[in-house]
Amino acid sequence: MPEPTPSAGAIPSPEADILAALGTRLVVLVGMMGAGKSTIGRRLAARLHLPFLDADAEIEAAAGMTIPEIFEIHGEPHFRDGEARVIARLLESGPAVLATGGGSFMREETRRRVNDKAISIWLKADADIIMRRVKRRADRPLLQTADPVATVGRLIDEREPVYRHADLTIASRDVPHEKIVEECIEALHGRLCSKVAPPEAAAGIMGGLR
Ligand code: S3P
Repeated sequence: MPEPTPSAGAIPSPEADILAALGTRLVVLVGMMGAGKSTIGRRLAARLHLPFLDADAEIEAAAGMTIPEIFEIHGEPHFRDGEARVIARLLESGPAVLATGGGSFMREETRRRVNDKAISIWLKADADIIMRRVKRRADRPLLQTADPVATVGRLIDEREPVYRHADLTIASRDVPHEKIVEECIEALHGRLCSKVAPPEAAAGIMGGLR
């Protein structure tokens, strides 16, 4: 008689381990514009069978206008307040994968909430890659300057020391998206599902051997 097929949920896999360890937490992607947070986030969510949430899209839906319109009509401080509120709300709806806007992690309150409710991944991209990706579109109000290359350089200098506070860092580069997703899965698995014994347990074993 053939062996009964186990249900999909019962098949051991890194994805299933991550899901179990996440509980109600989210995976939050942070990093510069053009780092691939939405592109990678959508694919990562599909791999983990989790909903994908995009903070920028949620802000636009809540405001009933586009991000350039919010900047133009209300200004950046208003946008930042709305962004912090929307991210706080989305962080209550885990488990999910959430792509955040590039400036949101600069707010201490948002970093604290992300730390409480999620595992964060910094998608780290260098200036050349960012410029190549963002110049295709004119929907980033912060880059509507006389010298966007200098602006991106300044934003990278200001932000990287803060992005470094994310739990995990993955280099975003020009390789197939699935490779970056795979690296995210490996990093999440290492962080959440590592079988290494906590130091007290190891000390206990050593004590028993003495
Ligand atoms: C911003 C990044 C944008 C968007 C807004 C401001 C930033 O999101 O939130 O234009 O300050 O870096 P993406 O990072 O998704 O492009």
